[in-house]
Amino acid sequence: MRDSGKYPNTSLLLLNKVLRIHSIAVLTSGGDSPGMNACIRAVVRTGICHGLKTYGIHRGYEGLIEGDIRELQSLDVSNIIQRGGTILKTARSDRFKTADGMAKAGDNLRRYKIDALVAIGGDGTFRGAKEFSAKYRIPVIGIPGTIDNDLYGTDFTIGYDTAINTAVEAIDKIRDTAASHNRLFFIEVMGRDAGLIALRSGIAGGAEAILVPETRTDVNTLIEKLREGWIHNKTSMIVVVAEGDEIGGAFKVAERVKKEFDYYDIRVTVLGHLQRGGTPTAMDRVLASRLGVAAVEGLLKGKKNVMAGVVHQDIVFVPFSKAVKHHRDINPHLLKIAEILAK
Ligand code: F6P
Repeated sequence: MRDSGKYPNTSLLLLNKVLRIHSIAVLTSGGDSPGMNACIRAVVRTGICHGLKTYGIHRGYEGLIEGDIRELQSLDVSNIIQRGGTILKTARSDRFKTADGMAKAGDNLRRYKIDALVAIGGDGTFRGAKEFSAKYRIPVIGIPGTIDNDLYGTDFTIGYDTAINTAVEAIDKIRDTAASHNRLFFIEVMGRDAGLIALRSGIAGGAEAILVPETRTDVNTLIEKLREGWIHNKTSMIVVVAEGDEIGGAFKVAERVKKEFDYYDIRVTVLGHLQRGGTPTAMDRVLASRLGVAAVEGLLKGKKNVMAGVVHQDIVFVPFSKAVKHHRDINPHLLKIAEILAK
């Protein structure tokens, strides 16, 4: 069917006569990420633009189980595009993994006459969505919202760009003090299962070494690298450690290094949850807006049980089964660049 280019789009209106989606709901689940609000705004306004009743579910699947649901108007999502966190709040729900929890969630969707769902979150969110959608025959589209950027099927997740910029800002500040004292810093960044925050923030922060869970960390090799820096009279050294690195975080790595390399005074900084908050970057706001619109229009085109993502700048839809099963590989070129430039 040809797209008229007008909004609300007539071809979508016609299609929806068959699909009969009159109301949709949006929720955020798992760890929050900057840009989730921009995405909620996009979902709500796109829904309204297409004549749908649009609901917000509070505290992710927990709120769905408890019926913590309210209709959202366009003004309810005003002035949130620039705010971190999520106005809908979020949770990691164990109850949604049980048959009873899912049944309650299904009952609430029926009670509110919600025909389709948009779930913003990460891997865990999509696992839940996949099962729920299959069991209760409700179309669900997932939107990748996590600072970790560890989802298969999209080049970027909402919040990743902001998180790496936050980490880089912190690394730059630490570099100032490290250079003033001739110190070696181990900086731990988030990423329980993935080193993608570490890799990009490490390259951008000019780190001497980057440790990620995707590659084996050998302490002796690391010490050799640091020794080279010392020989070349480096006045500061920064090692970025992903939280999920197999040695067990920045403190553990620092402890092991200290035993055999004491040329520098050593300090450790764990950046932690400050990486999850803050004003989303323009990149994250635009990504969130694009994916929010794509998810609602995807539902109106009959798409379901898929994650909306962006690959090479284009919107794509990946089945949940692929998005949650496949491992997202780390870019070997970026690893190489980090290695070359650290000398
Ligand atoms: O959302 C992803 C993430 O930030 C991971 O990088 C981190 O390991 C985890 O969440 C922390 O979760 P919580 O906020 O529950 O401690």
